[in-house]
This record gives sequence, C-alpha cells and structure tokens, in this order.
Amino acid sequence: MTDATRRHLRLDALAYGGDYNPDQWPEAVWHDDVRLMREAGVNLVSLPVFSWPQLEVSPGAYDWAWLDRVIEVLWAGGIRIDLATATATPPAWLVRRHPEMLPWDADGRRLEFGSRQAYCPSSPVWREHVARMARAMAERYGEHPAVVLWHVSNEYGDHVARCWCPESAAHFRRWLEGRYGDLDGLNEAWGVNVWGQRYTAWDEVEPPRRATGPVNPTQLLDFERFSSDALLELFRIEVDVLREVTPDLPVTTNFMSLFRELDYWRFAEVEDLVTDDAYPDPADPRAHVPAALNYGLMRSLKGGQPWLLLEQAASAVSWRDVNVPKAPGRMRIDSLQAIAHGSDGAMFFQWRQARYGQEKFHSAMLGHRGEHSRTFRETAALGRELRRLAPVKDTRVRSRVALVVDWDAWWGSTATESMPSQCLDWLAQARAWHAALHALGHAVDTVRATGPFDAYDLVVVPNLYVADAAQAAALAGFAADGGTVVVGPFSGVVDATEKVHPGGAPGPLRHLLGIEVDEPWPVPDGAHERVELDGRAYDAPVWTEWIEPGAEASVVARFASGALAGRAAVTRRGHGDGSAWYVGTALAEDGLLAVMRLALADAGLPARERIVPDVEAVTRSSADVDYTFVLNHGAAVAVVDVPAGAEDLLGDPGTRTGPRLVVPALGVAVLATPRADEPPFITLSETTE
Ligand code: GAL
Repeated sequence: MTDATRRHLRLDALAYGGDYNPDQWPEAVWHDDVRLMREAGVNLVSLPVFSWPQLEVSPGAYDWAWLDRVIEVLWAGGIRIDLATATATPPAWLVRRHPEMLPWDADGRRLEFGSRQAYCPSSPVWREHVARMARAMAERYGEHPAVVLWHVSNEYGDHVARCWCPESAAHFRRWLEGRYGDLDGLNEAWGVNVWGQRYTAWDEVEPPRRATGPVNPTQLLDFERFSSDALLELFRIEVDVLREVTPDLPVTTNFMSLFRELDYWRFAEVEDLVTDDAYPDPADPRAHVPAALNYGLMRSLKGGQPWLLLEQAASAVSWRDVNVPKAPGRMRIDSLQAIAHGSDGAMFFQWRQARYGQEKFHSAMLGHRGEHSRTFRETAALGRELRRLAPVKDTRVRSRVALVVDWDAWWGSTATESMPSQCLDWLAQARAWHAALHALGHAVDTVRATGPFDAYDLVVVPNLYVADAAQAAALAGFAADGGTVVVGPFSGVVDATEKVHPGGAPGPLRHLLGIEVDEPWPVPDGAHERVELDGRAYDAPVWTEWIEPGAEASVVARFASGALAGRAAVTRRGHGDGSAWYVGTALAEDGLLAVMRLALADAGLPARERIVPDVEAVTRSSADVDYTFVLNHGAAVAVVDVPAGAEDLLGDPGTRTGPRLVVPALGVAVLATPRADEPPFITLSETTE
C-alpha cells in the first residue's frame, strides 16, 4: 500500500454526515437514525469518539457487542464509518488507578477527571494504554468494509495543550537534552547569563512555571515546541499501531483551524488526510473571511490535496458566552464555502442533538425536535444538493498567492511578555494580510517559509519573527526566479534560540529586502500614526519602525506623522523580474489593501476589486473543468457577471447562466466551465438591498 492510495476516501461522493454517539441512545433509536441519515443523504459518520469507558468497561474487559451491532446497522444502511480509536478521553478506572496521568496547569494544580481529555500527553501510562486501545480497535474493526478512515483521538490540544506535571517536566528535560546535547548547550541556547539562570544539573531545569517575573523567552519558546512535539509523539504512537494492523486505511486526526498550540505542518506529515473542525461564529458577519484562511491552510498542509471538514455546527454551539443560531441558509453556505476551498465533503458535530450532558444545547443535524427540527430540514436539503456536486470531488483549488504560516514565529512572538509591544499579534496580522488579499479576490494558500513556492506568483509573510538562513535562502530564491515576496513588520529579528541576529532585524532577510531596521517604534494605545502612499494617508495604529533603506531599495510609502515622519515605511527591492517588499508597520485595513494592490500588480496578478466585500468566488479545477463557487455571504442580493454559458450545478439542470447571475443573500452558485488557463474572472455588477 502506498501513501498515495491512502489519500483517497473510499466514497463515491462528497462526504456528508457527522459525529454519531449511539451509546447515548437506546438501541431502538439507531434504526431511526439510519433511516433519517439515508433521507438526509448521509454517507459517513464518525464514532465512537468518546466511548472508551463503554467499550472497556473495566481493565481488560471489553464490551464490543453494542458497537458491533451499531456498525452492522450502519453498514446495512449504506453508511460508511470514520472510526475513532476512542482515545479522546480515558475511562475513570484508568485515571483512578493512575492519578499521575492527570495533567497539571502552570501553577502546579492537578486538573481533575470530570470533563474530557483528562491526560498528560507525556504520561507513559497513557501512552501505553492508547497504543493498546488503538490496537484493540484496529484488530476488531480494521477489516470491516464499512470503515473507510481512522479518526485518531480528537482535537489534540483542545482542552490540554500544555502540561506542567512532573512527568512532563522530565520529558521536557529529555527533549532539551536531545536538542542541545548537554547542559552547556542548553545554557548557551537559553542565554542564561542574563538574570543569572545558569543550570548545573538537569534536574534544576523545569518547564516555565509562574515565576517571580518575566520568564526566559527561549525557555518559553522551547516549551511551546516541546509541547507540540509531545502531542505529535502521542499521535504517532497510535498511527504506528494502525499502519501496522491496517496498512490500507487512511489515518486522520481532526485539526482546529489555525490553532496556535500545535505545529500542523508536522502533524499533517504523519497523517494521510487532513481534516478540520470549523466553527465560524454566526454572530460575526465577517466570520467567513478568517474561515477562508483556515481552509487555505487545510488544503495547503498536504500540498493542495483535498481535505475534509470533519466538524461544524448545524446551528448554535454551546461553548461561547452567547451561542447564536445560524439563520436559515447560513449552514448551507458555510458548508459550501469549505467545499469551495477544497474540502471533499461537509461533516458536523453532531448527528443527533444530545438530551443530556455538556453539549445538550449544542445544535445537531437532527435537533431535539427530531425530523421536525429546522436543522434536519436544512441538512436534508443540503445532503440532496451535495450529490449534485459529486464532480468537484478530488478537484483542486488553484491559487497563485500564498501566505507563510510558521509556528516558531507565532510562538516566539507571542510566548513572552518581554517584547517591544504586546499589541503586534501574530494571528491578527496574518488574518489582516489574508483579509486584504481575500478582499481583492484571491483564494490564498498557506506555505512554509522554506517553500515550496513554485506554484505561486506572490508570497506574503505577515510575520517571521524567528527566521533562519534556510528560510531566507528559499524566499530569496523565489524572488530571484521572478516571484514577488512581501515581508511584514518585526521579521528576521531572532534566531531559533531567540538571539537577535547580529546587526539586528531583518537579520538573514537583509539582502533579500535591501533594508535594515534601526529600531522598532511601537505605537502607544490610542495613538494612530499615519503612512502616506501614493498621496493618500493610512492609519498605522499598532506598530512602526525606523527603517534604513539600502541603495538598492526604493521607498514605496513613508510615515506621515510622529517621530518617524518622512522616513520609509514600505520599501521594494527589485531582483531581476522578481521583487521583495518590506512593510515596516502594521497598517489598518485600507492601507493593507493599498499595499496588496501594488504587490499583486508587481506579481502580474489581477486585483479583483469587489463592490460588495461579502461575495466570494473560488475555483476548484479538474483536468478539464473549472468549478467556480460564487458565495454571497452578505445580506444583500448580488448580481455578478459570469462566463456566458456556464452551468450552475446547484441550479435547474440543463439551464445555462450568464452573462449575469443573481445571487440572493446567502446564495451560492457552482458554475462549471471548460478549464481555462486562468480561473474565471467573476466581477460584481450591482447589488440591491
Ligand atoms: C469540538 C469537539 C467535539 C464537540 C464540538 C462542539 O471541539 O471535537 O467533540 O465538542 O467541539 O462544538
């Protein structure tokens, strides 16, 4: 079995379904479930995610009978299974026998049993038992024809992403020893001469706990790296068992979108299929914009391969302070947005709404009113529609623009309080840069700072606080090959051990960008500095820098206020046909739009201006067909110009659209046209309130 064959789900349509928790219901309900699943077009369910205690009722005593029956009922109904290894939460008996496996918080308090995920990722006991449980599941069900995917654990790091217990501390020390070799290496890396932190024995080294004052930043950064690695090791333990017993079955673990705590590039290397759980807030009318970035990450984690939206809410969730339901049509467009961005299906948490427990107010495909619930009507309607979208399965989003996501830079720039400003936030910057490109009509991929960049004309790097020579060389190679790269503020500042690069920022990016930064100049709360670009002034509310442009860099924009007035704010250095831009400030929305317009033009890419920001067009392509999703996330009717003769897969069969298409509020069209060199250009004609 090759890796490539494991990348495809054995489904002949887009995946549709949700988490299924039959052990919360009497058996009679299961048959009703399958009847309604079939009615709703469900073809895949995830189970039994949290059922270890119901499967191993006491140490070594398994009760498989109920799960055997559930699987047969589903199989008989033609429903396939994303089979969980059931290791998302430990049974009480295991925790009580081994209380040392419970996680600790940063203040040394043990977190108790009573919720879920009550384990320390480094616990040898837990690791031994998850391997045992994964093997038991694989041996019992791995050959069953209904099982098409392994669902390992659940949302690693959801509740417990970092643990400070003695076992984690010991594991952290081993991890540090592996990284730095010996104590001299550690002392050098951590720069312990500052504030007198020299270590003379390994047992003096601790995870960064609450201390008397600001903690060593390299210690903090290493703890972030270690904690992500500890969960990755845990994931690998199960994956190794599953690959050994069932080498043909693809493996996944569900991600949580752009999640700070885990380096998903490294997790994705271990799995066959990327899956994501996405919960855009229905109370936020712009939630589809960061959602597009999350989906761009998901399709990029395995080089453009289709991924799968494994969880979303049919309506309200139950974990925000105020849980607003999704208005009619919102669940449909949210699902179709994920599919537009490369998901080969749309799944939910969960199939049937719980009657008890922590999630009884969380919506489900089948609400408390059962088949009479609004969510069921809407999910059944969407299930019917998705069958018409079967041709988009296995097609790929074509994007020419990528945004660099780097967890080291994210962790490094946010783990410590000892920074020029706490207001320059990695995620906020990444989202703002993405939002500008999104507003200019681009579906943005994500990429590592080392590439590969060959699919792109424009690569943007909102922040690369931690940077090394290999990243700089890759970005320089891209510019030398004719690419346009745009680097954001406070990049190239420190190396992997958090030491400022000799000569200061942008360190290894100095040659690429052709500038030096003399000093960061953060903007105090409430003050708004100004940047002038092409005769217009834009707000810079958070961050500015004293930039010294070299002879080869030209100044694109200057500061127009404050101590830096008249100095460079945005620069460009040409590299043959390519170019490298530096944006030494955090611009507000309109300023970023202005910079991205210029960068797109420099890259030879169109800026697809939108009259209504809420209409999004994304194209997935097969070898010969472009499927362009036109999604109206807004509250107004939009009229768009589309290629004449396009067929809307969601419209009346055989009807041709164009050159104009009316897209109602929350409406979606999926236009099939012959594959063109450039994805179809969708322009907005007008809107009506
Ligand atoms: C996810 C989790 C699910 C469910 C869902 C509710 O984080 O994986 O089990 O709790 O949230 O929104």
